[in-house]
Amino acid sequence: MNVIAVDDKQEMSEKASAILFNEIKQNPELVLGVATGGTPTDTYDKLVEKVLAASLDLSKITTVNLDEYVGLAREHEESYWYYIYTHLYEPLGLSPDRALVPYGLSDDLQEECIRYEKSIEKVGGIDLQLLGVGRNGHIGFNEPGTPFESKTHLVELTDSTRQANARFFEHKEEVPTRAITVGISTIMKSRSILLLASGEEKAEPVNALLRGDVGEKWPVTVLNQHPSVTLVVTKDALEIEEDLDHDQ
Ligand code: PGA
Repeated sequence: MNVIAVDDKQEMSEKASAILFNEIKQNPELVLGVATGGTPTDTYDKLVEKVLAASLDLSKITTVNLDEYVGLAREHEESYWYYIYTHLYEPLGLSPDRALVPYGLSDDLQEECIRYEKSIEKVGGIDLQLLGVGRNGHIGFNEPGTPFESKTHLVELTDSTRQANARFFEHKEEVPTRAITVGISTIMKSRSILLLASGEEKAEPVNALLRGDVGEKWPVTVLNQHPSVTLVVTKDALEIEEDLDHDQ
């Protein structure tokens, strides 16, 4: 794993946006797995700035959302469709035709999970997956205990995840109780992974990952089995007590 330790979230976002920019520049048809949540917002903003400044054409990339809440319409301000639209497509003046997002209002959610997994295969799989990590170690909405072989599936969100996401809603009760998430095996099939972590509340999962553990208790630790992971992490999310070899 390539670990890039940075001072703060701003530096994390700068580095991450530069990595994304270069990847898209090298492959204008990149299939980019996109994370939502608080962690990558500035990364998207900085990526948009770089893309506009360089007049880079993003019209041929495909984005694949990691997850979507069940029960929120696309136009709902907290839906993840809306998130990726407002953070990426709208500021770039692009139509979201190539934005894959699970449909959280489907009448048949199980069928929607199967459809979504197939739609990822149809675009040739994910080239680069941008990931955040939950304070409980989840990636996407793969909560602790999720089997590593899982594909896109329906999840009951844990109380800690709903609590963490309550900051985006007026009341915690408004946070949906279910979501569709790509599975851990779907994430692991990505050709490369860019993981971002910022803030001391991420120190526990980050340290589990960097200890080299692999276990369902901390889903993020599965990334120790992936051949191409870059972690951009702020110092407060590292809480290192001993020296880590940053190039391993
Ligand atoms: P956050 O969420 O970026 O809002 O902290 C990360 C996650 O839950 O994956």
